[in-house]
Amino acid sequence: MKKLNIGLYGFGVVGQGLYTVLQKSKTVDATLSAICVRDKNKKREIESPLLTFDRQKILNDPAVNVVVELIDDADDAYHLVKEALKKGKNVVSGNKKMLAAHLEELINLQEETGKSLLYDASACGSIPIIRNLEEYYDNDLLKSITGILNGSSNYILTQIFQEDKDYATALKEAQALGFAESNPDFDVQGYDALYKLVIITAHAFGTIVPHGDIFRFGINKINNFDVRFAKEKGLKIKLVAKVMKTENGNISLFVAPQFVSKENYIYNVEEEYNGVVIEGEFYDKQFMFGKGAGAFPTGSAVLSDITAISYQYKYEYKKQKFFTPPVHTQDILLPVYLRYDHEKDLQLFDFEEITEKYEGSGTHYITGKILLKNLLKINGELGNLPVFVGIL
Ligand code: HSE
Repeated sequence: MKKLNIGLYGFGVVGQGLYTVLQKSKTVDATLSAICVRDKNKKREIESPLLTFDRQKILNDPAVNVVVELIDDADDAYHLVKEALKKGKNVVSGNKKMLAAHLEELINLQEETGKSLLYDASACGSIPIIRNLEEYYDNDLLKSITGILNGSSNYILTQIFQEDKDYATALKEAQALGFAESNPDFDVQGYDALYKLVIITAHAFGTIVPHGDIFRFGINKINNFDVRFAKEKGLKIKLVAKVMKTENGNISLFVAPQFVSKENYIYNVEEEYNGVVIEGEFYDKQFMFGKGAGAFPTGSAVLSDITAISYQYKYEYKKQKFFTPPVHTQDILLPVYLRYDHEKDLQLFDFEEITEKYEGSGTHYITGKILLKNLLKINGELGNLPVFVGIL
C-alpha cells in the first residue's frame, strides 16, 4: 500500500465533506498537503491553513501523488485533470459534466500515462456503481440499468408527492441542503442525470454515447395536473435515467420523468437518495440504494477512490477491451404521457399509436407510443413549451 499525498482542488460542499471524512478515517494513510481554491472572499464553513490560490502549487509539487478535483467549472476541471495526469499524478474527479464530455480522451490519457483516473463519486454519490459495473458485472449479461441518479430532483419530487409542497419551495430546500448544483437547472432539467448515465453506460456496456444523442427531459415543468394523473393511478413520478439492450443487441438511452408503480424497485427511493436497478440475463433484477448527494455521502465516495489509488487500482474498461460494445440506437418505441395546452404543441409529437386522449377546459393529455428518435428530434424545442413528457 502506497502512502498518499493529496492535493485538493475545490473546497465547496463536497471538498469540505471530504476534508471532514479524511480527518475521521483512521485507516487511510494519506496527507492532505494543499487545498487550491479560486475565490479568496468566499465564506467557507471550514477554515484551513492549507488553502492556496496558486493553481500551479499542487501540480508542481513532486511530493503530491494524488490530485483530487472537486471544482464546479467543467472546462477548468478538464484542463486540470489532463495536466495532472501528464505530470504523472493519479487523479480523482467528481465532475460528471467534464467526464461525460471527454471520457474517451481521458481513458486514452490514463492508458498513456499509466496513472489512475477514478471517479466513482461522479455518479450516484455514495453508491459504488462504477466499480461494481467494472468488477462484478464484468461480462455481457447486462440487460438494462435504470436509475434515479439525481438527488435534488428526487428530493423535490418527494416533497411534491408526499408533503404537497410546491415546486419552487422544494427546489429552494434542495439548494439550502447542499444537494443541488450551483446552477440548479442542471439538476431539474436532467443534465446531471444525463452525464451520469453516459459514464455508467461506458462502464456497463463499453459504449461511449455522446450526451447530445440522448433524449433528455427534466422535472421542471411538472404541475398539479401531472401529479394528480399519477396519484389517481397509484403511481409516482421519478426522474429516471435508463440504458437498455434492445432485441437486436443494441442499446437505447433516455433521461425523463417516468410514472412508476409500487412493483418498481425505485418506487420507494425518496428524498435525496439514489437507486439503481441492474437487470441481467440470468439474475433478473438487483438493486443498489444510497445517498446520491450531500457533503458526507459524496465525500466518502471520494475517499473510497483515494483509498483505491493506494492499492494502485484502475478502471480497466473491460467491456470496451474484451467485448464489442453495442451500438447506440434511438429506434425504439416508448410509451409516453404528454400534457399540453395547445394543439400546435401536440402536433410536434409524432405518436405512432394513441392509447388515450383527454381534452379538458385548458389542459389536455394524451398517452401513446412514440419512437425515441422522434422525441430526440424535438428535444431542443421542448424546453420552451408548456408541456410535460413522462414515460409510462
Ligand atoms: N446535484 C447532484 C444531485 C449532486 O442532486 O444529485 C450529486 O451529484
